[in-house]
Amino acid sequence: MLPPFWDYRREYDELRDEVLAAVDRVFKSGQLILGPEGVAFERAMAGYVGVSGGVGVNSGTDAIYIALAAAGVTAGDEVITVPNTAVPTVSAIQILGARPVLVDIRDEDFLMDVAQIEAAITPRTKAIIPVHLYGQCVDLDPLMAIATRHGLKVIEDCAQSQGALYKNRRCGSIGTASTFSFYPTKLLGGYGDGGMVLSDDEAVVRLARSLRFYGMEETYYAERHGYNSRLDEVHAAILALKLPRVDGWIGRRRHIASQYRRGFEGSGLRLPTENAYGRHVYHLFVVETPGDRDATLQRIDARGLKCGVQYRWPIHLMRGYEDLGYRAGQFPVAEKKAQRIFSLPIYPHLKDEEVDEVVAVVRAAI
Ligand SMILES: Cc1ncc(COP(=O)(O)O)c(C=O)c1O
Repeated sequence: MLPPFWDYRREYDELRDEVLAAVDRVFKSGQLILGPEGVAFERAMAGYVGVSGGVGVNSGTDAIYIALAAAGVTAGDEVITVPNTAVPTVSAIQILGARPVLVDIRDEDFLMDVAQIEAAITPRTKAIIPVHLYGQCVDLDPLMAIATRHGLKVIEDCAQSQGALYKNRRCGSIGTASTFSFYPTKLLGGYGDGGMVLSDDEAVVRLARSLRFYGMEETYYAERHGYNSRLDEVHAAILALKLPRVDGWIGRRRHIASQYRRGFEGSGLRLPTENAYGRHVYHLFVVETPGDRDATLQRIDARGLKCGVQYRWPIHLMRGYEDLGYRAGQFPVAEKKAQRIFSLPIYPHLKDEEVDEVVAVVRAAI
């Protein structure tokens, strides 16, 4: 049987008793929002990433704008990021009335081309959002050097890279702050939405904590304008029980990735590269076809296999982002990749035999 592109139910079958016990514990506790489960999970996540503080929020998107705001980004500021990311990286900048400024990516690994950042800096630039896309880290040492030189904040978008390493440091422990998503498909996924802001900077953590709760520090008194974005107790309890398993699941993802590598040797498909400076955690296994991507996907689909495309349109080529004022051709690497890429199924509960079947179907179709 060919596997689905993604399905959380295999994992749920394994964890069901523990998940239901956690839900029951919270429901019986009398506290559903901002209680001990959230505090314990924030501590556990901060410990996992290797920073001092975490603030649970409603989604990865909320984590980005709350982190930006907590780092001092306000309306009219510019924030540098990339065109080949999930829409929320960019929409989070705009929620604050700040302006997204894009730089292209590197051909070899789909990640921000750090060498292009300085040319994009203006007197209004306040922050950079490196997106650790697909499961591996942007080259952060040179990026941090540029940020320091120009007095910029760095918000790492770690939605796709929980557990990845950059020179033996955890993804999310290097910038001013980092943001995580617990959307169900993520490396640490919940059964609904969730996210977190993490930082070593106590002032950023304190501000993020206030911003997620209507700008309050004490009940019913707003110190500032804020939002409602809280990670509920049920989700915190579930995510906390899954967190210790993440590294084992990453090991399984890396095993599947190496199985794909062996399977596609000599196939003509361009496979993901792994940067020597870090550890790739394979949130996605994205390949590039030398031929017509959509025709290839149709042939794969006709054989009964569903693949993904992350992402088919770079941000600047979407109608919703015409107002950024970019044109086709301005980010040639991101644009070329968007036409050639597709993603193969990869998740810890995928079986070795299923990976072999995926390889056979894709090889026959290319
Ligand atoms: C790179 C990236 N940033 C941000 C987000 C936003 O996360 P969420 O869906 O939890 O709001 C996602 C998730 O799709 C993502 O992949």
